[in-house]
Amino acid sequence: MERTLCIIKPDAVRKNVVGEIVAMITEKGFNILGMKMMRLSSADAGEFYAIHKERPFYGDLVEFMTSGKVVVIALEKENAVADYRTLIGATDPAEAEEGTIRKRFASSKGENAAHGSDSVENGRNEVAFFFAERELIG
Ligand code: RTP
Ligand code: MG
Repeated sequence: MERTLCIIKPDAVRKNVVGEIVAMITEKGFNILGMKMMRLSSADAGEFYAIHKERPFYGDLVEFMTSGKVVVIALEKENAVADYRTLIGATDPAEAEEGTIRKRFASSKGENAAHGSDSVENGRNEVAFFFAERELIG
């Protein structure tokens, strides 16, 4: 079983589509191990996306991710990482497939509705970034 992390980003929370996104995820057979709403601090958002620290969009990304509430969801399934990346679609909604979360709900490449872990190792690490093991229910 793989784990992967979903973050429903502030743009999608503001659009009131949390329920629709959760439904899309559970309809694809993902098991929700943990879920919480929170507002990220700049320190947390900056550390979470530290891999992009040198990229030109890093400052905007941290500002956006701290601009409102997010919903953080720990997911489990066979092949969870790749299957969830397929479900969210391409980073830029203009390139995302029909029926994906980003095609339906993203506004732009920056404000793109949902995060997904990009490797099996990052899936485990990102779930652990937000959840203690005792908060995860199989
Ligand atoms: P994520 O990590 O949030 O799931 O997104 P991703 O893998 O599809 O894309 P990544 O390259 O990891 O970029 C992280 C997030 O940074 C913002 N971004 N803005 N304006 C831009 O050119 C740009 N590029 C990336 C997006 O919010 C992207 O999801
Ligand atoms: Mg990424």
